[in-house]
Amino acid sequence: MIESLKQHEIPGRLAIVEGKSGMPAIRIETDWSTAEIYQHGAHVTSFQTKGGAPVLFMSGESLFQSGKAIRGGVPLVYPWFGGREGSPAHGFARLTAWDLLETRAMPGGAVRVRFRLPSDGASEVVYQVTVAAALTLELMVRNLGAEDFRFESCLHTYFNVGSADAIGLHGLAGDRCVDLVAAREFVQGPEPVRITSETDRIYQDSTGEVGIRDPSLGRTIHVRKSGSRSTVVWNPWIDKSIRMADFGDEEYRRMICVESGNVGENAVVLPPGGEAVLRVEIETSPLDG
Ligand code: BG6
Repeated sequence: MIESLKQHEIPGRLAIVEGKSGMPAIRIETDWSTAEIYQHGAHVTSFQTKGGAPVLFMSGESLFQSGKAIRGGVPLVYPWFGGREGSPAHGFARLTAWDLLETRAMPGGAVRVRFRLPSDGASEVVYQVTVAAALTLELMVRNLGAEDFRFESCLHTYFNVGSADAIGLHGLAGDRCVDLVAAREFVQGPEPVRITSETDRIYQDSTGEVGIRDPSLGRTIHVRKSGSRSTVVWNPWIDKSIRMADFGDEEYRRMICVESGNVGENAVVLPPGGEAVLRVEIETSPLDG
């Protein structure tokens, strides 16, 4: 399987390698950054600017196994979010080996990779990852059928932070929050969101940029998005971390999921021939820069 992907290599920029458990992975190097993407789930497992700390968090306990989701990086949630009776949580996209369509060295130095979800004929789903000083993720869904097509999507991004209880999440003020832990809804106040206990929140009609201000690592991670009306914020905290087999007991201290997508009442309904693009750009800046 790895040999057949080697045609996509770009000398000095992109290599096809044997990743964990022998799974095919793509390693990318640009003038500004490095990245790694598994074909399993079209899953970005690493993005790091040169000289900087990893931007994405990866669990040391993650499974790399067919039929299981990778824990960390950017799980691609599609075509449903959350649990569904008799079906895999967060959809099948993160459990599927995507077709590698194309790799490209862009003018200006970025490297781009395009994947397609093996199609059922009813929809076409293409995922484009562009690596440069920023990481840009674009999920394009087209309805090929004759009926409306409804789906949820989410780029379930795990960010690496110095200390979860020291970060502040900026940009959610005024957004309507469905708090799944407290089982209540409220409108987010002007203060940054702090993480001090188990957090599982869906912000609906939330379209703005989120800044993850991290004093421990001296940086802000900027999450800019379009085609996304929901923001999910998740940290399992202590008890849930202990219960999760593929997550270290203490790892909740070094991560926060800030997920961009369209979930729940923000699900997308595409008319026949319609297309939706979910786009997320991730970039860091020095704390007060
Ligand atoms: C979050 C959900 O997006 O993903 C949480 O809001 C869920 O409820 C978490 O626990 C992790 O999901 P999973 O399926 O990757 O363990």
